[in-house]
Amino acid sequence: MGVASFLVILLAAAFVGGRTAVEAHNITAILGGFPDYSLYNSYLSQTKVADEINARETVTCLVLPNGAMSSLAAKRSLVAIKAALRLFTLLDYFDAQKLHDISGGTVLSTTLLQTTGVVHGNLGFVNITDLKGGRVGFASAVPGSKFDSLYTKSVKQIPYSISVLEISAPIVYPGLLDSPTKSDANVTVLLEQAGCKTFSGLIVTSGVLKNYQSAMANGLTVFAPNDEAFKAAGVPDLSKLSNADVVTLLEYHAAPDYLPKASLMMSKVPIRTLASGGSGRYELTVTTRGDDVTLNAGMDTSRVASTVIDDAPFCILTVDSVLLPAELFGKGPNPAPSLVPTVSPSLPPTAVAPSPSTVNAKAPSPERPLSPPAPPMESPGESPVDAPEAAADSKGEPTGGTADPSVPVFLVLTAFGSILLLS
Ligand SMILES: *[C@@H]1O[C@H](CO)[C@@H](O)[C@H](O)[C@H]1NC(C)=O
Ligand SMILES: *[C@@H]1O[C@H](CO)[C@@H](O)[C@H](O)[C@H]1NC(C)=O
Ligand SMILES: *[C@@H]1O[C@H](CO)[C@@H](O)[C@H](O)[C@H]1NC(C)=O
Repeated sequence: MGVASFLVILLAAAFVGGRTAVEAHNITAILGGFPDYSLYNSYLSQTKVADEINARETVTCLVLPNGAMSSLAAKRSLVAIKAALRLFTLLDYFDAQKLHDISGGTVLSTTLLQTTGVVHGNLGFVNITDLKGGRVGFASAVPGSKFDSLYTKSVKQIPYSISVLEISAPIVYPGLLDSPTKSDANVTVLLEQAGCKTFSGLIVTSGVLKNYQSAMANGLTVFAPNDEAFKAAGVPDLSKLSNADVVTLLEYHAAPDYLPKASLMMSKVPIRTLASGGSGRYELTVTTRGDDVTLNAGMDTSRVASTVIDDAPFCILTVDSVLLPAELFGKGPNPAPSLVPTVSPSLPPTAVAPSPSTVNAKAPSPERPLSPPAPPMESPGESPVDAPEAAADSKGEPTGGTADPSVPVFLVLTAFGSILLLS
């Protein structure tokens, strides 16, 4: 079988799997079987790096046993620990065999830290070098870094999907573990700078800012509508709502959990908000399409636009529409606001942008590595959840789309393969 046809089969397999291919591994479940890494596993969950790992099709996790992880984490901010865990996640597949077969005995691998865009230069790369005597060492790609981190043993492999390897010590570069937390950031100032002045004013005058602040330390995600969102048709006149209803509406715009965009994308169950409780569910569901994330409130939907601050375990995301819960606006004497679909169902999924690739470039590139430039995969007729009854049904499949796009894509790939074979 030719290389080309093998490649095509790989590509096709990745697509036929569709969404499930992306969920082919669960690092939390894998490490759950190994008590030696329970601390590492716990930090992967707290920082939500676990979600970033699970979203990758091909990944190698370099894990530290509890003793080494405990010294790494001692007195560090969660933000610093998150940076380190991202650096320990290589966006390439290395099992023991491949580590020892590295051509030339040395290679650079890109990591999750590199793809976050917060680090510059080669800080997000790891140098893997065969140190001879059968030892393989890992070091930051920053010149002068020492190979203090050695490969000690293989923990678990799912071929071409995930490899978990134990290392003896953390891979570090100067400054990695000093990542400052911005927990003293002034939320109202941040919101104003992000174009959410109306929302910022409302949370101050209603006192909801205090509720946010007391929830922050244990995980909080704020979905802040921008100023345009409050002017949109269909948004009820807030001055006609009771104070209690304004408070509930604003509490509906925050979840008592740390849910950066990567975690929203992986979320399968309805998200509880600060408004959830005795008087109703006040939940949000999430629809993901390509890199777009849409929140489905009871009465409308809203695209997640940007990240204002991501400071584990706290983050603020902006949203394009005010989220209108059915519990407040779907019944009662007030007529329900008209539905304003804010996400065009005819938008094709955003093409997956290529991300910094492994320097050795032998293996598939990191970001959804097996995806060729994809044709639009979903028909324009397929609409996101937009009926109130459907949106209010929390048991509904939150990921929306039902049509299986894999068959036409498979045909396209087959054609693509034939061309490759003929050329
Ligand atoms: C991964 O496994 C953990 C532990 O078994 C489980 O709680 C979690 O829901 C799983 N995540 C996904 C995305 O399936
Ligand atoms: C890895 O580091 C070693 C020692 O600094 C260096 O000799 C080697 O060239 C580096 N490997 C790569 C691929 O840059
Ligand atoms: C945040 O900034 C605003 C405007 O400058 C100020 O009024 C407020 O007191 C500050 N809040 C905190 C907690 O420092």
